[in-house]
Amino acid sequence: MSYAEALNLMHEYTNSDALRKHMYAVEAAMRAYAKKFNQDEELWAIVGVLHDFDYEKYPTIPEHPLKGSEVLKEKGYSEEIRTAILGHASFTNVPRESLMAKVLYACDELCGFITAVAVIRPNKIADLEYSSVKKKLKDKSFAKNVSREDIELGIKELGIPLEEHVKFVIEAMKVDKGRLGL
Ligand SMILES: [Fe+2]
Ligand SMILES: [Fe+2]
Repeated sequence: MSYAEALNLMHEYTNSDALRKHMYAVEAAMRAYAKKFNQDEELWAIVGVLHDFDYEKYPTIPEHPLKGSEVLKEKGYSEEIRTAILGHASFTNVPRESLMAKVLYACDELCGFITAVAVIRPNKIADLEYSSVKKKLKDKSFAKNVSREDIELGIKELGIPLEEHVKFVIEAMKVDKGRLGL
């Protein structure tokens, strides 16, 4: 499966501009981490760009991501890809064993949070720094739908300190800021 096919599939299922951008953001973070860890960048990008592809059609638990996983299986996507995607939803109880699954989980909610912080800034993500993100993370009334617990657990499983992880993801998102609308 190529990245182009995965992107087409995501577009076929997802019309929402915001949801598409969320998946691009996670893709950008996955690409950057794949490079950092000398992993298969295209594979990691596919996981990022597809992880919520079924969410618009199946927004309820447990349909997302279980329905999507069935679709991916029918289309011949690998076990490795599907397991990583299932792992981003904790209720599936699919353990995040691979590095790819750990990175996906650690980046998913954080990308959403960084987007929420950046989008309201005059220069968006261009001059966003860790300190602003840290401050907003402590402000429980800000982007309260983003689970701080998931972010905490993600960095714990990945074994990278919050500051380092946030800075890394900001830089990764900056690379693709045009597509992210940031
Ligand atoms: Fe999801
Ligand atoms: Fe997501």
